[in-house]
Amino acid sequence: MINIGLIGYGTVGSGVYERLIETKEQIETLLGSQIRIASVLVKDKQKKRIVETDAMVTSDWHEFCQAAEFDIIFEAIGGVEPAFTYTSELLKKGVPVITANKKLVAEKGNVLEEMAKEQSTYYGYEAAVAGGIPIINALKGTLMTTSITRVAGILNGTTNYILTEMIDNHRAFSDVLLDAQERGYAESDPSDDIDGFDAWYKIRILSRLCFGEWPNVLDIPRVGITELEDWHVEIGERFGFKIKLMAEAVQEDKKIIGRVTPAFLTQTEALANVQGVLNAVVLQGDAIDQLLFVGPGAGKKATANSMVEDFLYHERSKDTTRRSILNNEKLSASSIVHELM
Ligand code: NAP
Ligand code: HSE
Repeated sequence: MINIGLIGYGTVGSGVYERLIETKEQIETLLGSQIRIASVLVKDKQKKRIVETDAMVTSDWHEFCQAAEFDIIFEAIGGVEPAFTYTSELLKKGVPVITANKKLVAEKGNVLEEMAKEQSTYYGYEAAVAGGIPIINALKGTLMTTSITRVAGILNGTTNYILTEMIDNHRAFSDVLLDAQERGYAESDPSDDIDGFDAWYKIRILSRLCFGEWPNVLDIPRVGITELEDWHVEIGERFGFKIKLMAEAVQEDKKIIGRVTPAFLTQTEALANVQGVLNAVVLQGDAIDQLLFVGPGAGKKATANSMVEDFLYHERSKDTTRRSILNNEKLSASSIVHELM
C-alpha cells in the first residue's frame, strides 16, 4: 500500500486529489501496489470541500503526520513558511515530497535538495515551472550532458492570459485579472504574477538546472506587466507587435545574466503565437540548436497532472536505480569470472 498525504487542497491540491482518483487503476498497475490518500492538510478545516475518500482532513500538522507512515507527500500550499518547515521535516524522515511551490524551490531548493540527497529520497518540483510542460525532468533526465547556453520563455500563465485578452479582445486589465483568478491561474497574491516575481522564480530554477548554479539575485532584474502603459499597447497594435512577459537567462563567461520584462515580439516569432494561459520554454545550445516546449502554464488539471507524473517519474527512477545496481552486480560478477579464467 502506498500512503499519500496532500499538503494544501486549493486549486492544485484538489486537482492532485482528483487526478489520483481518476488514474488510480493505471497508477496501481504501473507501481504494482495500491494507493491510498491518507490525509489532507489545510489552513481552514471548516471550509466546505469535497473529499470523497476516507482521507482525514485536518489543519493540525501533527495530526496530519500521525495519519499514516507516508510514502509520498504532495505539497501545494505556496510561500516559504510553513511549507519549508513541513518539507524539511518530511525529507529528514526520508519521505519523498513533490511540490508545485516555485517560490519555495527558488528560495530554498538547494537546501531541500541536499536534505533529500542525504536521506536518499526525492524532492520533485516538475510542476513548479511552466505548469503542464515537463521541462524539469526533461532537463534532469534527458538533457544531462547537453550544454545549454540560453534558456528563455513565457513562464507565467496569468500574465500571458491577461496580455492576450487585453490586446486581442480589448478587455480591461482588472476584468481579466479577476477572470484569471476565477480560473485558478493566479497566485493567492496576484502581485506575484503581475509584478513578475513568479516568472523570476521560474527563470532562477531553470538557470540552476541549465547552468548548474543559481544566478545572483541582482543579475536577473525584474519588470512586471504593471509597468505597461496604454501607449505600449497602442504601439503594439499599430505596428503589429505582440507584447509578452519574457524571462531569459544566458551564461556568459561563467556568469549568468538575464531578465524578466514585458517585450515586443514580431508576429512571425514563435513565441508571439503562444497565447492565453500557454507557456513556452526555449533552450539553446550547440548540440540542440533550439528546442521549443509549449503547453499549459497554469491551472488545476495541467499542474496536478505534472505533480502526479513527477511522482511516477520518481518511482520509475527508483526502478532504474534498482535495475542498474542489479546490472552492476551482474557485471562485476561476470568480470570476476572472466578474471579467474
Ligand atoms: P490555493 O488555491 O490558494 O490553495 C492553497 C491551499 O493551501 C489551500 O487549500 C489552503 O487551505 C492551503 N494552505 C495555505 N496555507 C496553509 C497553511 N499554513 N497550512 C496548511 N494549509 C495551508 O493555491 P494554489 O493555486 O493551489 O497554489 C498552490 C501552490 O501551487 C502555490 O505554490 C502555487 O504557486 C503553485 N502553483 C499553482 C498553479 C496554479 O495554476 N494555480 C500552477 C503551478 C503551481 P484552505 O483551503 O483551508 O484555505
Ligand atoms: N500563477 C502561476 C501562473 C501559476 O500564472 O503561471 C503557474 O505556476
